Amino acid sequence: MPQVTRRIGLSLGADLCWPACYERIMERLDLALPVGGDTVRFDVRRVHIDPLDFGRASRYDVVLDRVTHWFPLSREWIKQAILLDDVYVLNNPWAIQSMEKATTYAAMMRLGFPIPKTWLVPQKDYDWSLPDLRVTLQRHAALFDLGEVGKAIGYPLFMKPYDGGAWVGVTRIDDESALRAAYDASGRRLMLLQEAILPHDLFVRCVGVGPQVRIVDYDPSAPLHGRYTTRTPDVTGDERQLLRDMTLTINSFFGWDFNSCEMLRRDGIFHPIDFANACPDSQVTSLHHHFPWLVRAKLRWSVFVAATRRPMPKTLDWAPYLEIADTEAPFAEKLAAYAAIARERLDVERFEEFCARHLGVVDEAVHEFFGTDEAREIVRSKVASLYPQHEIEEFTELFWSAIQDWRAAEA
Ligand SMILES: Nc1ncnc2c1ncn2[C@@H]1O[C@H](COP(=O)(O)OP(=O)(O)OP(=O)(O)O)[C@@H](O)[C@H]1O
Ligand SMILES: [Mg+2]
Repeated sequence: MPQVTRRIGLSLGADLCWPACYERIMERLDLALPVGGDTVRFDVRRVHIDPLDFGRASRYDVVLDRVTHWFPLSREWIKQAILLDDVYVLNNPWAIQSMEKATTYAAMMRLGFPIPKTWLVPQKDYDWSLPDLRVTLQRHAALFDLGEVGKAIGYPLFMKPYDGGAWVGVTRIDDESALRAAYDASGRRLMLLQEAILPHDLFVRCVGVGPQVRIVDYDPSAPLHGRYTTRTPDVTGDERQLLRDMTLTINSFFGWDFNSCEMLRRDGIFHPIDFANACPDSQVTSLHHHFPWLVRAKLRWSVFVAATRRPMPKTLDWAPYLEIADTEAPFAEKLAAYAAIARERLDVERFEEFCARHLGVVDEAVHEFFGTDEAREIVRSKVASLYPQHEIEEFTELFWSAIQDWRAAEA
């Protein structure tokens, strides 16, 4: 059989732990898969930041990207690689750039998801060097009463940046005077005001990688290392299916192969409150117990994509979702129909068949790897990059034992 090599590029920022694990496991696996009459092998490389020669062919088939949402050279390089060379990139850089948090609320409202009441208010302050700003505001900015907006939403509510991440600028607000104070302090940031889903009896983060979804019980009040809890989420089989369907619908709608959706359960209803997270936390220092799952999910999906040359969806075709949204069907029926589109777009059947046929060895390799000194050293080096000297051993042990619990549960 002819041999072909597919190149997988890792386009990285501060990432340290998952790429090291991904590379080591790929080395150990040394896959040679019979696909479409070829023997397909894989070459994993880290992408360098180099001068970009427009038109020079990209050397990669698949890129796992972590920086294009903030690093413009990489973003332009990746867009070129997609346009000129049909490279497959997780995630689609256009879909990250244009789908702000605010946009995603609107889109999922249109599909009938129970999105909390949300408003966008004009900025408190502006960049006054913008040439047309003064005249634009003089002519078109209407006076508004922030108190009335607060009343329409009800308290408590959350103020958060329209394009935010990492909890920056997020404030819980309990009354009108707190709202006014937070608004006055918001400066040049464009802010959303959102009904609080409080109290809720469950907070989940649903991490999706291609068609794979992991539902994690999340505790936002815990210190950073304890937010992704190790508890099994207290959900019924139907709720699990609902969360899976919502996650795959969101991810396929926005063209994101890798995303994390936050949902809060109140009175039996799951409300999505933040699902524009197309570069989700992938660090062992936050994911610990769930980290091997993530490494395995990325590995499986990228190998599948590279081996089968799955074409990258370059545009977002929303028409089929909107047709369903515009019917009179109840939400449960609509969601099932959206999820059917998502499953097709995310190649669920082909992926499962591929995993069953070719990737049985991956489970075992991942399980074995996360018991080795090499893996422990990677965890340690990530901890050492974030924690003070005197806490390195303690936290390495904490995360390592959470990983060992995962191994025991998987065995
Ligand atoms: N509508 C809401 N109801 C209840 N809690 C909320 C709501 N919106 C935000 N929160 C709380 O505030 C936190 C941060 O808000 P949000 O997730 O929207 O911001 P973020 O900056 O995108 O955070 P991250 O980067 O961690 O995803 C949430 O994890 C949740 O605890
Ligand atoms: Mg969030």
